[in-house]
Formats: sequence, C-alpha cells, structure tokens
Amino acid sequence: MGAKRIGVLTGGGDAPGLNPAIKALVEKCAEGGIRVTGIFDGWMGLLDGYVDQTVELDPVAVRKWDRDGGTNIGASRTNPFKTPLKEGEPSVDRSAEVLRNAERLKLDAIVAMGGEDTLGAVGYKLSQMGLPVVGVPKTIDNDLPGTDYTLGFDTALGNSMEVIERARTPAGSHHWVQVIEVMGRHTGHLAFWSGVAGGAQQILIPEVKFRYQRVYELLHEHMARGTQDRRNPRYAILVVSEGASALDEAVVTVDAKLDPFGHARLGGIGTLLSERIRRETPYDSRALQLGHAQRGGAPSAVDRIMGRLFGARAAQAIVDGEFNTLVSARGVAPSCTISLVDLKQAAGKLRVLDAERYYDAEHYSPKL
Ligand code: F6P
Repeated sequence: MGAKRIGVLTGGGDAPGLNPAIKALVEKCAEGGIRVTGIFDGWMGLLDGYVDQTVELDPVAVRKWDRDGGTNIGASRTNPFKTPLKEGEPSVDRSAEVLRNAERLKLDAIVAMGGEDTLGAVGYKLSQMGLPVVGVPKTIDNDLPGTDYTLGFDTALGNSMEVIERARTPAGSHHWVQVIEVMGRHTGHLAFWSGVAGGAQQILIPEVKFRYQRVYELLHEHMARGTQDRRNPRYAILVVSEGASALDEAVVTVDAKLDPFGHARLGGIGTLLSERIRRETPYDSRALQLGHAQRGGAPSAVDRIMGRLFGARAAQAIVDGEFNTLVSARGVAPSCTISLVDLKQAAGKLRVLDAERYYDAEHYSPKL
C-alpha cells in the first residue's frame, strides 16, 4: 500500500532553496493524496518532548514559501545517535525514540533535507534501522557526494560575490590587501567560485594547504605592478575559505567545542592571514568574515528551480515507494537531469573541489 502521510524535516545549517523544495514536495504529495507533516528543527523534532509540536503542511499553507530564504520549519544540528536526555547530561543513543515517534505520528516515510550529517550520518543509518527515508541534498558548501548540486550553493555564491565586489572599492581607494573569509568547512567550492566571480587575486581553499611565503610572493608581484604604474591596481583581494590552513598548521576554530557530529565551528583564518600580511609585508590589510549572512536572504532563481525539481522528485519517490534514496542532480538548472541514487551515497566521501582545476587557474592559486 502506498504512503498516506509523510514527515518533512530540514537539518544542519539553513540554506536558501529549502522552502521552495518543501512547497514542491507538499504540492506534489497533495496531488497523490499524501499528507505532509512538518517536523520542526531537524531530527530534534522527532525526539520525545518535541514531537508533540508539528505542523500540517498543505498547498495553501506553503503557497508563498518558494520566495522565502532559510527554512520555515527550523533546523538544528541534532544527532539522535548522540544526544543527551537533558541538557548537561552525557549524550546517549536516542535513535529508537525517533523510530517510535515516526510511528506515533503515523508517518510512512521521512523526507529529510540536509547535508553530510543530516543525511549521511543520520538519515542513512536510520534507514538501515527500518525508517523509510528520502533525502534531498542541501548545503551551501555543495560538497555532498552523489549529486552535482546541493540547495543553497547558488544563492550563497551570489551573496559572497556581491560582498567581494563591494569590498573592492574601499580596498582600491586605500591600497589595502582585503582578505575575505568565506564559509566552507571541508571544501572550497564556495570560496573558489565566489573568488573567481569576484575577481580575487588569490583564493585559498581547504583542499590545498598554502604557504604564507608563497602568498606574499604573489602579492608582491601583483602590488609591484601598481607601484611601477599607478594606473594598475594598487590593492588586492584574497578570498580564503574558513577551512583553509597553512602547511603544518591546523584549521582555525572559534573555540574548542565540537557539535554532536564532531565538527568544530570554524572561523578566524581570514583575520589571522590579514594580521600576518600587515606584520610581514609592506602592505596594509583588512579582514572581512562573511559569516552566516552569506547563506541569508531569498533564494536565487537557480535555488528556486532546483528546490522545485528536488521537492517534486522526492514526492515522486514517495509515490513510487522508492525509499532510502537520495534525490540527485546531474548538472545544474536550467540544464540538468534529476534522478534518485542510493541514500548510502550521502554517507560517502565528500565531493571536494577538483584540485587540478584549481591549479589550472594559475593566477588565482598560490602554488606550493
Ligand atoms: O555546512 C554549511 C555551513 O554553512 C558551513 O559552511 C559552515 O562551516 C557551517 O555550516 C557553519 O555552521 P553553523 O551554521 O552551525 O554556524
């Protein structure tokens, strides 16, 4: 017998494109007579104490959601396999609670929208325990395996490029080396492509360790052109991914805390690099950390389209009973094909930026 009711949740960091995906999912499910329960705050919403508050999502309720950024049902970084029963207590495995509560809510399947943690670490494991799951890929980092696109990347790319562009005029007027730190925990897709789009002189990414001396050498070459002939630029833009690190150095973290998936909050490499440039080169430098605003605001056209395509495909998977699958894109809108792959793929190795391509862009990258 086909599904009658499903739950939808969004986990991990928020991303523009989630609400269009939810809207398309709800609309398409309604066509097939399937009801949709909105579960608040990711996997947390299926734990005891949270599960009593859900929201009924029908086409009228989600009518305007395609224009909204973030996620209207909230998100959290909850790992049901490692969550304390009460704050301050040690973490325990609460996965059985999730299965029991899904049954209590009479959910025939869960559509989980998320990245490596929500889908790879949790969704896939729960699916192996008997919970029917369909995954929708989402992360501004665009690094989930099994798909070419994850919701939020295009909007974050545009947001980051815009700030890089705006940072250019003060840097140009005052002859600064402007360092801009872009998100991307393990991979440099966002930093690299926003740096390319924003015309950065150098881009540092997690996949390739950098050397301070080489960064300075390239800076000298670039700045020297401006000194010799003042019609040339006398400033530089350096984009650095929060996950980038120098050879023999660790990534820079906000503090020592780890989230339930074992990740530290990254941030600070941009400030560090800028301070060192001020100290160790003749150039003045400023640092700018884009932070969460880069994934803020309304979804771009691409994220709206991909959201709709992903949401509709997830609904079709529910109708066809194709569970424990991940909605996957080959290519990006408007020229893409959407299919289903095994959810196991979300638990595979992250999709890193092709280092060959990075090195090919000779003038961007500080070769070691
Ligand atoms: O995974 C998406 C992402 O935005 C990463 O780029 C970043 O490292 C992380 O989330 C930030 O986490 P939080 O939103 O919990 O601060």
